[in-house]
Order: sequence, then structure tokens, then C-alpha cells
Amino acid sequence: MTYNFDELVDRRGTDAIKWDMLGSHFGNPDALPMWVADMDFLTAPAIQEALQTRARHGIFGYTGRPAGYEEVIRRWLYGRHGWQPEGEWLVHANGVVQGIAIAIAAYTDPGDEILVFPPVYHPFFGVTEGQRRRIVESPLVFDGTTYRMDLDNLRTVLAEHKPKLAILCNPHNPVGRVWTEEELRPAAELLLEAGVYVLSDEIHSDLVYPEYQHVPYPSLGPDFAASSATLYAPSKTFGIAGLRSSVVVIPDEARRAQYTAVQGAFGAGHMSAFGMAALMAGYGHGAEWLDQLLAYIGGTRDMVMKTFSEEIPRIRAIRPEGTYMIWLDCRGLELDDQGLAHFMYQEAAVALNDGAGFGTGGSGFMRMNMAMPRSLVAEGLDRIKNAVGARAHA
Ligand SMILES: Cc1ncc(COP(=O)(O)O)c(C=O)c1O
Repeated sequence: MTYNFDELVDRRGTDAIKWDMLGSHFGNPDALPMWVADMDFLTAPAIQEALQTRARHGIFGYTGRPAGYEEVIRRWLYGRHGWQPEGEWLVHANGVVQGIAIAIAAYTDPGDEILVFPPVYHPFFGVTEGQRRRIVESPLVFDGTTYRMDLDNLRTVLAEHKPKLAILCNPHNPVGRVWTEEELRPAAELLLEAGVYVLSDEIHSDLVYPEYQHVPYPSLGPDFAASSATLYAPSKTFGIAGLRSSVVVIPDEARRAQYTAVQGAFGAGHMSAFGMAALMAGYGHGAEWLDQLLAYIGGTRDMVMKTFSEEIPRIRAIRPEGTYMIWLDCRGLELDDQGLAHFMYQEAAVALNDGAGFGTGGSGFMRMNMAMPRSLVAEGLDRIKNAVGARAHA
């Protein structure tokens, strides 16, 4: 079966944050929404059918794990990433950020330090500082084309700060890196030696372009598995973030017990009946849909890269290896962050995520979401090109 990702589906009026909150977030309800990590494609038919079947039943009480839950997740992870957890390592979460927040509450105390690698997904800061833990940074290094972790800096930061926890993002949002084993292992060894427990956010791991391979953190070996919790979800993969269904892999039994105790203490142990039905259908039957989606977004990525380099050279697009986001170096426009935001949201009328929100290294950058029908992405590129042109002639 061939899926049609060119189809335009109107999301306005569905309370979609991406489309219906443009006025409040960007001061421009007519901006083209290329921001929050949310796709404008109909989800996989298997998921739509599972939800319709579940809805037709008409009773939606407290829901537990369906038969086959562990096997479906294990098979999915093995099929996509060549690695699988033990069934008993799996804990349910109503969202990856919730899982990270609960892990922070379970494994650290107020005042403890938590290591992040900015520029990075901004809620990592919120869930840390919101719980009165402190952020420690080991910024990624940008060489003008790509990003890497800075192992010398990491060594120094670990020695000076002794953080209790590190939050990794793999693939790394917003810069689009898929960490190779050659990069991940030495960083993981430093963290292990320093006794740092790792939260590996792998929510984007299914969204890796065909020429790259995702390496799950716990697949590095038993010691790395035991000193980590890894978070997965069908939410980005299938565009079902509104269904709040994710998985936390916690191999160490004592750590798992600590986690579930705090999860219970927050009343966060229950799962959504619809979220569970969607997870089972997506992981169980969504592989072919995902392969076609990745081919489509890969084509869009190539179009976006080409357009910036040939037609809007003052903005440099960083080629993503994974995620449907593209990180844009806008420093060539010579605007401060406020000016850049005004330029994109009001002059170009495109709603992008401002880079400064991703922390150190984000100033002067913007993040664009490419997970829309290609005609809309082309429209966004035209808007940016015209606005850059208008400025040049002003
Ligand atoms: C790296 C990363 N983690 C977590 C999330 C959000 O996950 P959830 O909606 O399951 O909390 C996102 C969404 O963009 C993300 O990019």
C-alpha cells in the first residue's frame, strides 16, 4: 500500500497547539506553523482503525497493559534498532517528559546537579529547575557544518560538578545528530566512571534517515544498561503525541522500584486506553507506513537543504541525520534574537522555534519542523526567501 503524505488535512479548529495557538504564541495567527514537534500527516491506518474500534466499544475505564505489550515493544525495538530490552524492564509513562520528570524526582534531591548537552530540547531545563535541581552544561561543539560532543569539556565538568544525573538526547533535538557508537561510547564511559546515572531520551530514534543507524544507550553493554533509563514513544514516530503513551526502559531492578514508587506517589501510574491501543497498533503494524514516511521526509529535507543553500544562502541549514526538524543558522541575517523572532514571525510569517530557547549555543538559530505536506514546506521556504529579499531591498 502507498500512503499519501502530500494530502492537506485542515487541523484548524481541532485545538492543535501547532495550528490553533499561533496568535498567543507568535502574535500572528496567519503564520505558517513550522514549530512544535508534531506532524501534519494522517497517522498510520492501523492506528486509526485501532482507535475507531476502541471508541466503538463505548466504555473507557481504567486500562492495564494488554496481552502482548512487552513482546510488541521488544519486537519493534529489535526491528528498528537491533536491540531489545527484557520485558520486565518496561515501565509505562504518559509522555517522555513526564518520565524524565519522575526519574529526576526518584533519583535526585533538590540542589543536586543534572547534566545536559545544549543546545537541547528546552523542557529538560524546565523539569530540572522546576524541581529545584540545578543545570550543569557540557555544550555541543559546532564546526559550521555539524555538531559533536566535547569529551574534554565533559571530563572537566564531571570532575568539577559531580552531577548525579545526565540527560542525553539521541537523536539530538534540535541539531539532528544521530550519535554513532564511536561517539556515544567514550562519553558513556566517562559518565559511568563518574557514577552518573543517565536518562537517554530516544523519542526520535525511529525518525532516523536510512543512511544512519540509531544506537540505543543500553545496547552499549550491561554496565551502561544498569546505569540508565531510556525513554521511547510512538508519539513522534506516528504523530500521536496527543495520546500520551510512552515507555521507560529501566534495566536495574532497584532503580525501577524507585521509579515506580515515585510514579505512584504522583498518581501517574495509569495509562490512557486510547494511548495504549495506539501504541500496540503502531508498534505492531506501523513499520511499512513509517518507512514510507521517512522516505518522504528525507525528500523534503533534501529540498529544504537545496533551497537554503541555493536561494537563501544567508541562512545555513544543518543537515539532520534524524528527527523531522532542521536547525537553521540564521546568524548571517545579522539580527539579535528579538529581531530574528520578529523577522520570522511577522515579516516572513513562519512560526519556527527560536534557537535561544534551546540554551547555550542556540542564539542566532531557529528550528524548523519539516513534517508537513511538501507543498506547505515549500510555501514556508518561499515566505522566508521573500522576506529576506524584501529586507535586502529595503
Ligand atoms: C527530545 C524530546 N523529548 C521529549 C519530547 C516530548 O515528549 P512527550 O510529549 O512524550 O512528553 C519531545 C517533543 O518534541 C522531544 O523532542
